[in-house]
Amino acid sequence: MLSFLGLLSGLPLLVLGAPLLLTLRCHLLLLAVPLPTRVHLPWPLSRLPRRLLELLGLRSERGKRDKFQLSTATYYFRPLLHVPTLEAARAVLSPAKPPPSPGPSSGPSSAPSSAPSPTLPTGLQKGSAYDNFASFTGSSVFTCPDSSPASPRAGDSWRHKRHELLKHVFRSPNASASPLQPPLSAAIATSLASFDPPSPADLLPLYQALTFGISFLYLLGRPFAQPASLPPLRTYLCALTRIRVLVLEQSRSPLFLLPARLTPAGREIGRLMEVARPYARHVLETAPAASRIGSFILSCRASMSGDVTAYLLDEVTTLLFASVDTSAGTLSFATCHLAALPRAPVDVDAHVKETLRLTPVAEFVVRPLVEPLSLPASPAAAARVPAGVQACVWIKLVHTNPAYYARPQEFLPERWTTRPELVLEPGAFLPFGLGGRACVGSAIGRQVVREVFGHVAGKYVVGGRPDYRDVTRGFTTLPRSVRVTLTPRAAVAA
Ligand code: HEM
Repeated sequence: MLSFLGLLSGLPLLVLGAPLLLTLRCHLLLLAVPLPTRVHLPWPLSRLPRRLLELLGLRSERGKRDKFQLSTATYYFRPLLHVPTLEAARAVLSPAKPPPSPGPSSGPSSAPSSAPSPTLPTGLQKGSAYDNFASFTGSSVFTCPDSSPASPRAGDSWRHKRHELLKHVFRSPNASASPLQPPLSAAIATSLASFDPPSPADLLPLYQALTFGISFLYLLGRPFAQPASLPPLRTYLCALTRIRVLVLEQSRSPLFLLPARLTPAGREIGRLMEVARPYARHVLETAPAASRIGSFILSCRASMSGDVTAYLLDEVTTLLFASVDTSAGTLSFATCHLAALPRAPVDVDAHVKETLRLTPVAEFVVRPLVEPLSLPASPAAAARVPAGVQACVWIKLVHTNPAYYARPQEFLPERWTTRPELVLEPGAFLPFGLGGRACVGSAIGRQVVREVFGHVAGKYVVGGRPDYRDVTRGFTTLPRSVRVTLTPRAAVAA
């Protein structure tokens, strides 16, 4: 009884003491970094008396924060670096390789320098910020930190996965299914023609179904036909959209330290995966050997030991997911921008590029600093940031930074054609990320968006006023809806 009471009286100390120590630890780590910093106080610390917080140095903001400058923050016990500039983004995502160190290790008797490292360096390492994807994409190419200690099969590393995907899926010469073949154009035309509401209705679900269909055709070389054994496609697409939001919610929740199955968001993801997994399994079981994904599956089965089904399921789940909402979201934003423009002919490439600049679906990517990094904090000074800090590279802020674009908040496709003076720094364009871990499907993603948007802009007048600023944020950002009408240009001209 006494020990129970003792435990009970120690509880408040634990509830307050543990977060306090963790927050102070981050705070101390960032103290030596000469950058403005902000301390985010999670509950229950945010309830402590103001005086006490000031005394602990946890209340005040250090330095004036400008969203377009480097700064640091502590966020739920994690030390964060806020990266909104191109120079710092490059330093984090694509750091220069250190020169080979001279000395005994470079002598003839030393171990071969090509020995694979168990962890990836800064820029290639994804780290704990992506832990919340585990119940969803497992240890696929998107999340893999390199050789996974839990599964030390040959080739079970990010480098191997990416290499295999590039070889079989994204650069496969024998796969016949180009997404731009005439049957696809016909499918896009039929799908868009079916969208004929009398008053503005949401086009986003149609874009999601269309981009899913195109990805399926690209990967398997045949069109998707809804099998009775699978949940309806709409249910699957809604599940993916919801998971996208839940993963971000979970990483921002004070419950992030608990195992996913103990949190409401984690449990919901688990339920939604019961809808998503059968789709990945269907792809695995029915992919023709000559298709892109079939060739990838065969190669993995031949080169890896043991049962690789779980590994392949993670990979297919990731590919289906990564290809649908990113492309559908970009198409949705492009359509919102189109609706706001006069009916003049549209330059499709410039319109898509400006969409990706002003409204990138991936607004940020996160990388842990594996080693300390010196970053340009101002034209004159550098800031040394310690290892262990999570660098959040803000693609959206790089794209709207007035140092790189004139009139950065305006949608001006002509900056990519007739008004190049509106682009002050052409390199400040990273909608697919940067460095070795940039989007592996960027070429096909661009093609799909260009092809579908080309149809919309060429054949239809878009009615309605969808607001591109009204978004849902997950780890990708999409407009909440795209409420429009599509009237054939021929009908308008008549
Ligand atoms: C407009 C379309 C797309 C956009 C804007 C986009 C954007 C991105 C971005 C920013 C990243 C980096 C994420 C990070 O560093 O955390 C990424 C990674 C990735 N993307 Fe895309 N993506 C698109 C289409 C696609 C398509 C069509 C596929 C596959 C068919 C795909 C597959 C992937 C994969 C597998 C990764 C992880 C690569 C790695 O970690 O090595 N993406 N994408």
